[in-house]
Amino acid sequence: MPITRPGTTGYFLPMTELTTARKRASISQDYLDRLLRYYEEEISGEAYFYGLLEAFGESEKVTLLARMERSAAQSIEPLLEKYALGPVNEAQLKDLGESEVSRHQGLSWHQFMTHIVKRYPLYLDEFYALEAMAPAADLPLLQALTAHEVAVIEFAEHELAGKPDSVQSLKLYLALPRIKGASVT
Ligand SMILES: [Fe+2]
Repeated sequence: MPITRPGTTGYFLPMTELTTARKRASISQDYLDRLLRYYEEEISGEAYFYGLLEAFGESEKVTLLARMERSAAQSIEPLLEKYALGPVNEAQLKDLGESEVSRHQGLSWHQFMTHIVKRYPLYLDEFYALEAMAPAADLPLLQALTAHEVAVIEFAEHELAGKPDSVQSLKLYLALPRIKGASVT
């Protein structure tokens, strides 16, 4: 399902504007491919976490993790619009996310948090690499994407450490105002 937001016409800009935007910033195809792929992975990630809602007896925390994924995706939607990437097939991405659920639903909560602490820094490296190849104008939105991974890893570390306020990093991230698309043009 194509994603459109109120006040926009979807991800498609007139070709002249698009060409100018890409030329002005010397955008590589690799950068654009990654941007779209990482966006899609967050959409799949949301479905993945919602699929794990009942797996650990921690549905409130898993709901926050699902919301982090959607929020991270939303943070870079203005960039998809800027470069006319998409539209994405939400239903397909949801199926993809749900197909990953069975790999982890047998884990204990402790094992799942350990998985996040070990595995997610690799995603973080990918986001830093994306920032390194981005034009300066895109950085504030990409940094919001990166920050969600930092917050999720911090949450899992605090869970493993038994800290009572472990969800704080997630709640702080979710409370941040999203940067509007107009600021990246
Ligand atoms: Fe994510």
